[in-house]
Amino acid sequence: MELNRVLIVAVAGLGIAGWSVSASADAAAGKAKFAADCAECHEAADFAGEDAKALADSLKKISAGQMKHKTAIKLSDAEIADVAAYMASGGK
Ligand code: HEC
Repeated sequence: MELNRVLIVAVAGLGIAGWSVSASADAAAGKAKFAADCAECHEAADFAGEDAKALADSLKKISAGQMKHKTAIKLSDAEIADVAAYMASGGK
């Protein structure tokens, strides 16, 4: 598990220079993605007030198949940042 963590951090760091949830996330795009792929089972309001960075970390693991989830979801780093920002805002 520890090695996986290191790999995730390395890949995230290499993937997008200056990747930062708060600086580059687009909650409006996240809203559209969430409505299309997640709203069937989740309500954004359930995630209101959660830390966007922590949510993004969970989404990365789910997307990479490293965290158990009901369905396989595949999101790009940009989509993860967008959806995490939207979820953390509780859908507002
Ligand atoms: C087919 C139903 C379904 C779909 C579609 C779905 N999920 Fe889930 N998801 C679940 C279930 C069930 C759980 C585990 C129970 C829970 O925490 O709600 C879960 C858990 C999670 C968790 C962990 C919650 C926690 O508190 O640890 C996150 C984050 C999450 N989903 C994000 C997403 C995102 C983002 C999408 C869309 C890209 C998505 N899910 C699509 C059913 C789904």
